[in-house]
Amino acid sequence: MSSNGRFQGKTAIVTGAGSGVGRAMALGLASDGANVVIADLSTERAENVAKEIVAAGGSALAVDVDVADAARVRAVAAKAVEKFGKLDILISNAGWDKVMPFLDTDESLWDRVIDINLRGHIACAHATVPHMIEAGAGKIVFIASDAGRVGSSGEAIYSGAKGGVIAFSKALARETARKGINVNCVAPGLTDTPMLAEVSEGNEKLMGAIIRSIPLGRVGTPEEVAKAALFLVSSDADYITGQTLSVNGGLSMI
Ligand SMILES: NC(=O)c1ccc[n+]([C@@H]2O[C@H](COP(=O)([O-])OP(=O)(O)OC[C@H]3O[C@@H](n4cnc5c(N)ncnc54)[C@H](O)[C@@H]3O)[C@@H](O)[C@H]2O)c1
Repeated sequence: MSSNGRFQGKTAIVTGAGSGVGRAMALGLASDGANVVIADLSTERAENVAKEIVAAGGSALAVDVDVADAARVRAVAAKAVEKFGKLDILISNAGWDKVMPFLDTDESLWDRVIDINLRGHIACAHATVPHMIEAGAGKIVFIASDAGRVGSSGEAIYSGAKGGVIAFSKALARETARKGINVNCVAPGLTDTPMLAEVSEGNEKLMGAIIRSIPLGRVGTPEEVAKAALFLVSSDADYITGQTLSVNGGLSMI
């Protein structure tokens, strides 16, 4: 990842930053100068990424959070401001799914998938926007999914939640634009992370078929998704709001 200081003096919260795409975005933000709050359900994973950043000369704070718990999310935002003085960037990335046919799902799965993949983003925005309004500026990126744009078999609830965050982001973009806040989504396609390995298990044949149908012929890397998100939270994207950018090798083109 490049190191050009474009986030010097900025404070960023990245949820789900202990692994995969979140980790790549946290490392990228830190290498470009940001103070990064590494917020993850797993304390160990969060601490490992924070240590990695500090060892490379960057600035990071590890905090554990369940994004489904709005009170804990508010505490993370408060901690970020207490430690680094202000809050400029939110990358709301934490996500989770369990792949199964819709009719095999039950209410407890609906609740957990929606709590993390939709309500979690709402909680993160609700906790951070007041700090950005206070600072007079802010950049928010929600990590959605192409599942939320075109649907994904075996991921009906997840697709609904991801579609929900895309619609939510547009309304939030409209409401906060005059406060100097940009709100956008990145919609990854298949990306080589532990989550992909988990959802692929037992579905290898289907995955092989999907990968063969990707125009660019391969899954993406966490760093490729991170680059798109970091562009959207940089000053290069000051005139971009309410948009969804797919990073998917051309699998869907919308
Ligand atoms: N990997 C893919 O193919 C793919 C495709 C489309 C979208 N996405 C989205 O990208 C984002 C990152 O996924 P990834 O592939 O890097 O996954 P990952 O499983 O590698 O990492 C997700 C991280 O989020 C954390 N997390 C999970 N639930 C949490 C919660 N309730 N509160 C706080 N942290 C929580 C996990 O502990 C983990 O460290 C997710 O929103 C996912 O839905 C991934």
